[in-house]
Amino acid sequence: MSAPTSASIFAPPSIEGKPTIESWSPPPATQANVDFADLHTIDLALMDSPDPAVVEELVRIVKIAIKEDGFLYVVNYGVSLDQLHRQFAIAQHLHRNISQEDQDRLLWDPESGVYSGYKRPYGWKREKLALDGIKHFNFYRPEFADINRTPTCIHPFFDEITGFCEYMTNSVNRRLLTLLSRVLELPDDYLWDNAQSKGGPTGEGYFRHALFQPLAEETKALSKGLRMHGHCDFGMLTLLFSVPVSSLQIWGTDEKWRYVKYSPGSLVVNLGETLEIISGGHFKATRHRVFEPPEDQRTFERLSIVIFESSVGDLRMEPASASPLIQREGYVNYQGCFKEFKKLRDAGMAVPTNRQWRESQIAGGREVTDVINNQVGKDRIEIDGKLFTKREFLGVTVILPV
Ligand SMILES: [Fe+2]
Repeated sequence: MSAPTSASIFAPPSIEGKPTIESWSPPPATQANVDFADLHTIDLALMDSPDPAVVEELVRIVKIAIKEDGFLYVVNYGVSLDQLHRQFAIAQHLHRNISQEDQDRLLWDPESGVYSGYKRPYGWKREKLALDGIKHFNFYRPEFADINRTPTCIHPFFDEITGFCEYMTNSVNRRLLTLLSRVLELPDDYLWDNAQSKGGPTGEGYFRHALFQPLAEETKALSKGLRMHGHCDFGMLTLLFSVPVSSLQIWGTDEKWRYVKYSPGSLVVNLGETLEIISGGHFKATRHRVFEPPEDQRTFERLSIVIFESSVGDLRMEPASASPLIQREGYVNYQGCFKEFKKLRDAGMAVPTNRQWRESQIAGGREVTDVINNQVGKDRIEIDGKLFTKREFLGVTVILPV
């Protein structure tokens, strides 16, 4: 195998001489009797095993996990629990200490097609909408390139944020892309070389410090417990870190929403639409949403850090026709982005570029509190007694479970 260019163990910058910040105390996991999604776990350290049979078995499990679930837990990826909790502490510090001046100065503008900057807890537009209780800071390439585009309170820890994202992108993400390339029976660097965007700690993607405040009654009355609409991520891999407050839910093949269980220190990885398309539908960009947690966690804040890896913006994604897996088994034409893009290609039309695709979805985001559009006859339709959102972006129909 061609080894990743970076080390497989994270070596964070020193904290010596830095201001002390409050550590992050994970709230207790839920005790509720919840039907959790049963996801596969892969041990990334096994990639370095000298025994080819062990590595083969790893690829086999990855193949099953991405076909069946589109989500998987990854352990032994080279970041210790303490190192991970340090990143949560920095995110907590950002949200507790960002000044009003920085909130105003760094206010985001999603209609520009990127989430860069600060999200207030009032919806997914620059202007103030109804309270949704979700705050973010999103670091894109320009934020990584210019510290003045980030909140002053995190400047002393900026090297740690940068180092962490570089490690996750260039080592963990790259190793995962190697495994996925092997599932497609392509050279190890295929996805890294042909789809992954590069430059800066997250390429064209971004790092998010998200804080979900407990769901307010006024928000719940409008959203019915929903915190983020069901959606697929549009890029390459999404690297989430498992958190104790159970709010992330994934849509199963049995058409049920299930919470993803807390697994301390685990990385929760899901696949974006670019990977679904490149793989000819063999990889699944799984639908997921954020929903109110079980009753015993409803007063807790939910802190979450996420890296969204991105494909190269100028590319128009196509299935990797060189893949022996695709050549042998053909496409998997399940309902999703792959199928919709295929319809366009079959009609001789150009599919959107990756940048157009992601920017149109970011700019056109809808609020969970938008009771006008969130009803049948507007954004929603009923299929076999189940509610779905149906929207169109750049001539592509997107149908997602509510
Ligand atoms: Fe997502």
